[in-house]
This record gives sequence, structure tokens and C-alpha cells, in this order.
Amino acid sequence: MTTVSNFQIVADRAALVERAATLTVEAIAAAIAQRGQCTLALSGGSTPRPVYERLAAADLDWQKILIFWGDERYVPQDHPDSNARMAREAWLDRVPMPPDHIYPVPTDSGDAAIDAARYEATVRSALGCPEGVPTLDVVLLGMGDDGHTASLFPGTAVLTERQRLVQAGSKDGEPRITFTFPLINGARWIYFWVAGASKQAALGQIFAPGAAAGDRLTQYPASGVQPTTAEGQLLWLLDRAAAQGLPEYLREG
Ligand code: 6PG
Repeated sequence: MTTVSNFQIVADRAALVERAATLTVEAIAAAIAQRGQCTLALSGGSTPRPVYERLAAADLDWQKILIFWGDERYVPQDHPDSNARMAREAWLDRVPMPPDHIYPVPTDSGDAAIDAARYEATVRSALGCPEGVPTLDVVLLGMGDDGHTASLFPGTAVLTERQRLVQAGSKDGEPRITFTFPLINGARWIYFWVAGASKQAALGQIFAPGAAAGDRLTQYPASGVQPTTAEGQLLWLLDRAAAQGLPEYLREG
């Protein structure tokens, strides 16, 4: 494993899954030890599923974890594309977590903007933060081949949102619901899990020296993830295939 500033590079996808599970268990246990509970936002996509399967076997105080989703496809919660369904099948339905500690994104009003506002109210209420930006303990993120993260897609209006915590987004015209940058960046620990050669191009652009921040964020939204709290930490966990896309100055070994 190679660690360079806020990068960890592991050999392959299998090693990334193991490392991601270990880091997540450690972060959850630390949050519970320090604050009595862990507030955790999950990512969707394909990378997390095997990680969630490993978390189902972890020894954690399931009564003290609150689960949110950083984004969701605008489909019913039992739809095959649902991020909530994936996490429940891989993990949440296999551990004794109180059902009222699991906060799936509502997708049943027929209007993504309405459901985004509902979810923002849910997050604020669950975290006891009626105003300002709540501090989640852990936010887990993936990155698409195009450099999107959560459902913050290149060139979409939600990238400029700085007041709302949750907004409706879209992918190729398909509605999504997503955390906005303020909520993601306000977290204590933000983890990217990125595996595979298909991520090289976006990583190369995101970490290219000298790229203008504004353009880079619009084209590669994952570059907009930057902790905004004094205690915030960001870690990019990459497998070697993805890390080959990093500029030479960031690769080691
Ligand atoms: C989603 C995810 C999305 C995902 C990336 C990477 O709803 O699909 O939240 O942001 O993390 O698309 O997906 P992979 O892990 O499948 O590469």
C-alpha cells in the first residue's frame, strides 16, 4: 500500500475492497468512541457492494450508527437500480441496525425537487441541525469515469448550489437526488473509493497541476470535494489501475 498525502494506493480492486472496509470500520468505531454515535452517508454504484458485504460481518455497535445516502436514483426503493436496495441487500438487512436509524432518500412524491427538500429536512432533523451545515461523521463516495461523484454530474446546475444541502440533479436527463457540495464537504471524514483503469482519465484531469479550479469542478465534479471544517479529512483510496492516471508527482512505487 502506498500512501501519498491524502492518497492510499493498493494493488487491485480486491485489496481496495478490503482496505475500504477496514477504513470504514475504523471510522465508525472512532466516531462512536468519540461522540457516542456515527452518522454515515453511503455511496451507490458497483464498487461499494463488496465493501458493504464485508461490513455486514464487522463487529460494530449497530445501535449507534445512523445511515444516510449521498445520492439516489429517482426510482422506487425496491427498484434494481436503487442505491438503498443495494446497501440493504449487501449489508443493512444482515445486521441488527434499528430500522429507524436508516434514512433512505424518499423517491415517491413524483417530483425529485420535492423529495430532495424532504430529504434535506430529514437529514437536518436526524442530525439536530435546523440551520447551517450539519457535520456528518463519514461520507463515502465513488467517482464515475466522467469525474462525477454522488449525483453531481459534469455541467449540471446542482454543482453551483451552496445553500441547499440536498438537491435534485440529473444524469442524461434522468432525475437523481444528491447531497450538494456544502453537505459533503462539511463532513469529518470523506472517503473516495476508486478502482479500475476507466477512472484514469478523470483522475489525471482532477489532479493535473495548474488546472483552473472552476473549470475543473464543472468538468470533473469530484474535484469539488474538499473538506471545509477544521477537523475534515479527505482520503482517495485507489487501486493501482486507477492510480496510473495520476500525474507522476502523486504516484509512488
Ligand atoms: C451512484 C453513485 C455514483 C457512483 C459512481 C462510481 O448512484 O451511481 O453514487 O456516484 O459512486 O458512479 O460508480 P462505480 O463505483 O460503479 O464506479
